[in-house]
Amino acid sequence: MREPSPYSIRRAVESDQPVIRRLVRSECLNPRDVHWQNFLVVEDESRIIGIGQIRLHGTVKELGSLVVLPEYRGQGVGGALISALEMQAGYPLYLMCRNDRVSYYQRFGYVVLSDAHIPPAMIPRRVLWIARHLLRGQFAVMLKVA
Ligand SMILES: CC(C)(COP(=O)(O)OP(=O)(O)OC[C@H]1O[C@@H](n2cnc3c(N)ncnc32)[C@H](O)[C@@H]1OP(=O)(O)O)[C@@H](O)C(=O)NCCC(=O)NCCS
Repeated sequence: MREPSPYSIRRAVESDQPVIRRLVRSECLNPRDVHWQNFLVVEDESRIIGIGQIRLHGTVKELGSLVVLPEYRGQGVGGALISALEMQAGYPLYLMCRNDRVSYYQRFGYVVLSDAHIPPAMIPRRVLWIARHLLRGQFAVMLKVA
């Protein structure tokens, strides 16, 4: 692992879009609604090392597309991005993740929601049913309220 390096967080600009798309694709994250206007990026001296966004579903806000380059993980970059996105979006803030990532987000105060509490604006009931029953979707929707 690398030594922790100085980095800064800023709003994405249009020229960041190819890097954002590449990072989302590289981790097989949801490829929908990947627009630079909604992203924050983390930069060290030379390049983007992390990204994350706030997706809007009407009034429902979702933290999404969180990626840190593998060689920069475990240095608090992901946590710093989460804090910056929370400061920008406020609460309540939702997110969707694979079950094996739940414990990561629990560190930051997110709790798993039962299906009945998942906002339909974020995942329509029909899509949720299909994901749970037909695709055997092993995912969680989480919420932080403050
Ligand atoms: C998840 C991710 C963004 C974390 O970034 P990061 O910069 O390493 O995060 P932080 O430095 O703030 O936190 C690292 C800690 O989280 C832990 N962690 C990382 N992934 C985890 C997971 N899936 N479940 C539980 N803990 C996890 C690390 O072990 C580390 O623990 P430590 O502090 O005790 O050493 C990064 O691992 C990543 O880009 N993963 C691939 C994409 C991804 O899964 N994105 C989330 C989509 S929902």
